[in-house]
Amino acid sequence: MHILRRPRRLRTSAAVRALVEETSVSVNDLILPVFVVEGQNVKREVASMPGVYRHSLDNLLDEIGQCQDLGIKAFDLFPGLDESKKDKYASESWREGSMYLEAIHAVKSKYPDVVVMTDVAMDPYSSDGHDGYVENGEILNDETLEYLGKMGIAQAQAGADILGPSDMMDGRVGYLREKLDDAGFSKVAIMSYTAKYASALYSPFRDALESAPKFGDKKTYQMNPANIKEALIEAELDYAEGADYLMVKPAMLYLDIIKMLNDNFALPIAAYNISGEYSMIKAAAQKGWIDGDRVMLETLTSIKRAGAKIILTYFAKEFAQIQQQR
Ligand code: PBG
Repeated sequence: MHILRRPRRLRTSAAVRALVEETSVSVNDLILPVFVVEGQNVKREVASMPGVYRHSLDNLLDEIGQCQDLGIKAFDLFPGLDESKKDKYASESWREGSMYLEAIHAVKSKYPDVVVMTDVAMDPYSSDGHDGYVENGEILNDETLEYLGKMGIAQAQAGADILGPSDMMDGRVGYLREKLDDAGFSKVAIMSYTAKYASALYSPFRDALESAPKFGDKKTYQMNPANIKEALIEAELDYAEGADYLMVKPAMLYLDIIKMLNDNFALPIAAYNISGEYSMIKAAAQKGWIDGDRVMLETLTSIKRAGAKIILTYFAKEFAQIQQQR
């Protein structure tokens, strides 16, 4: 038997496999999303996200310190608010001295070298639980922009490095860019949730923040999971409107979208490995049905292989710990 080409020669040992390995994930690629809530010494686990906690600011600062020691350099902060703080206008989002704005400021003051990303959308602050402003059961686009603008400026003033508009309103990237520049924040970047799909996998996140919509769903603003072309249009708009990064969300079920954006745009592509993706892996691992660590590594590797330079993932700390043990 003479077989000229033997692909297995490149798989013969760990050293050879390492030589020919095309994709590797590093802590440099990761952003850890964290949940911050009111109070002192709070560390409350999210039931549907084992290993993920809502932290009060004091604990969050310790947590970020630990993560920084592990090499994680970027954090995306999300606020969990009491129902009493919510209203139609999401006014808590730009109130001076609010828990979230204080948290942004405190993290940047204590850890000036970390990247702080924020979430720009109305849902955690909205009594309607929608990402936009609601009137007569409708989510109004242009009216929403004004509230997003106030929120974004307040976050920039608090010290945010990257704003993450996750609301999917039309025109919001350009609107935020202009407001930021007018207010003297030309250095604050925008990571647009460019292709954010109306996924069934957000529910653990909505548990974490108690931010589920009070009526209806998000299908009039988030994208239809069946569609590819819209993602190109969204990306063209975000590019033209001044976005610095383009994000795809969710990640695991949308690798084709990640690849398409990476093939077509020179901006760094980010992917959000969302709550439900985390929970599915954790749940199966807890049952002993899969090896959670290996599935995590395979997941992050495939997201990067598809073309994401940056991955927002609740696994960031565990990933960093595993890397450090190697
Ligand atoms: C809301 C927002 C959501 C997430 C980030 N920002 C949920 C939603 O759109 O309902 C989801 C993140 C996750 O599931 O991990 N603006």
